[in-house]
Amino acid sequence: MDTENAKTVVVYGSRYGSTKRYAEHIAAALGCAAVPAEEVRRGQLGGYKTVVFGGGAYAGSICGWKKIARHCRAALRRAKGGGANGQRWVLFVCGLADPSKEKTWREARMLFDKRLPAEAAGTLPVFCLRGDLDYAVLGAKHRLMMRMLVAWLRRKKDPSAEDKQLLASYGDAVRFFDAASAAPVIAAARGGDDGA
Ligand SMILES: Cc1cc2nc3c(=O)[nH]c(=O)nc-3n(C[C@H](O)[C@H](O)[C@H](O)COP(=O)(O)O)c2cc1C
Repeated sequence: MDTENAKTVVVYGSRYGSTKRYAEHIAAALGCAAVPAEEVRRGQLGGYKTVVFGGGAYAGSICGWKKIARHCRAALRRAKGGGANGQRWVLFVCGLADPSKEKTWREARMLFDKRLPAEAAGTLPVFCLRGDLDYAVLGAKHRLMMRMLVAWLRRKKDPSAEDKQLLASYGDAVRFFDAASAAPVIAAARGGDDGA
């Protein structure tokens, strides 16, 4: 990988690899490194001009964000204190939810914002990308969570098109990964599009 761009870093939280694939694709386009969230140490992100963070969506949380949000809050504090900052943060979530639905973006924004100071809510660019889900590789806890979700969806009176899609694919592999869909994240990291 070309890691010439030492001013930018892509950090990711991924359980089964979809977010990692997006992170590596974005990092390759930006010419920087992609680092798993669990390897990021205290103070390690402070020197970058741009930090892209992406995490997999897991039932109301974003993989890796709890940890990386601390670094983001520190950057926001530095900016407030007038310190040498101007650090750009670009956030994306990788999930099964359909990015063409406004609800998907609203929920992603809410999950990111809930770990940021109130005054920063809605200010950072957020993007929604679609990942894969392969039931064959899920761990026991995630398999159980999906079984419970499916049992609940089967009882639902008025399931949405997305609910029906999830029910139809239950037990199989769903493949939504699309590297080209990450183009707006790359543009935002370069200083263009501002996402949701
Ligand atoms: C237990 C479980 C919960 C999930 N919850 C959500 C969710 O709330 N929203 C969503 O869009 N996708 C959800 N997904 C789908 C994952 O976000 C999707 O498979 C994604 O590609 C995972 O990224 P990763 O492979 O990088 O971990 C869930 C998957 C599992 C197994």
